[in-house]
Amino acid sequence: MSPFALLTIFMLTLLPLPTLTFSLCHTSCNNIPINYPFGVDDGCGAPQYCKMLNCSTNLPFITPSGTYKVQGIHYNKKTPTIYDPSMSTCSILQPHHDFVMSEIKSVIIPPAPDTVFTLLNCSRDSSVLNHYRSLCFNFSGHSCDELYGSCTSFRLFHLLSNNTPPCCFTGYDTVKYMSMNTLDCTHYTTVYNTDGLHGVALLDWIYGIKLSYSVPNTGCDQCGRSGGTCGFDVKIEGMQLLVAVWGGWGPE
Ligand SMILES: *[C@@H]1O[C@H](CO)[C@@H](O)[C@H](O)[C@H]1NC(C)=O
Ligand SMILES: *[C@@H]1O[C@H](CO)[C@@H](O)[C@H](O)[C@H]1NC(C)=O
Ligand SMILES: *[C@@H]1O[C@H](CO)[C@@H](O)[C@H](O)[C@H]1NC(C)=O
Repeated sequence: MSPFALLTIFMLTLLPLPTLTFSLCHTSCNNIPINYPFGVDDGCGAPQYCKMLNCSTNLPFITPSGTYKVQGIHYNKKTPTIYDPSMSTCSILQPHHDFVMSEIKSVIIPPAPDTVFTLLNCSRDSSVLNHYRSLCFNFSGHSCDELYGSCTSFRLFHLLSNNTPPCCFTGYDTVKYMSMNTLDCTHYTTVYNTDGLHGVALLDWIYGIKLSYSVPNTGCDQCGRSGGTCGFDVKIEGMQLLVAVWGGWGPE
């Protein structure tokens, strides 16, 4: 008998039990835990969040305006954080682009209230400085002058126009209903964990977007504690049935 056949027989006698204990759902991608309601495999997680993330690459979160990198998911607070590699921040100026989410995502996983959208290099005719002035808020005492003055990237707006172009601190809803062209601002940047940014230097802000989801946790905590993974039956997906998928055969 060839050594290869011997090895095969050895593995066949050794492996049947371990293959049965193989979990059906990825439990992490890119070192980020994948728990309910998320799932990267068929039938894992909750139907509306299943396959929203893709394990094969950088754990991307895809919207019509780009591919964002998931930086972490806070399961207790139900807040994933994402980062747009092509967004301008205090240290880098990148070409103009919009932030657009699909209808469904903007309902089931919208940016959290403590994510602030800062619209930059707005024209003086911009609606947010006139008719919709009330959409801009006083963001912990931070000003446009400070943005254009202390960030190497945003200083360019000031240098090129030789004045201080208006800016606006606002929430996701403004950006949701009006494109950057409609708003007449050329750039935006987003920052999260905005409670307590009073007096904090712009370089120390946390740039990115904090999202928030809400989903009933029907029995999933218990299922997870007993080593199972929450999922649903793909054949009757519409019914959002939750089933416990065994993660192993070990003793409880
Ligand atoms: C995940 O990403 C890879 C590579 O970009 C792609 O080939 C694959 O189709 C994606 N899977 C899903 C479920 O979107
Ligand atoms: C700032 O906005 C003006 C138009 O209002 C535009 O011409 C200019 O290119 C913008 N600056 C940068 C650096 O994009
Ligand atoms: C913004 O709020 C700060 C206090 O946080 C206050 O000192 C400042 O005057 C306010 N600015 C405007 C324009 O309302």
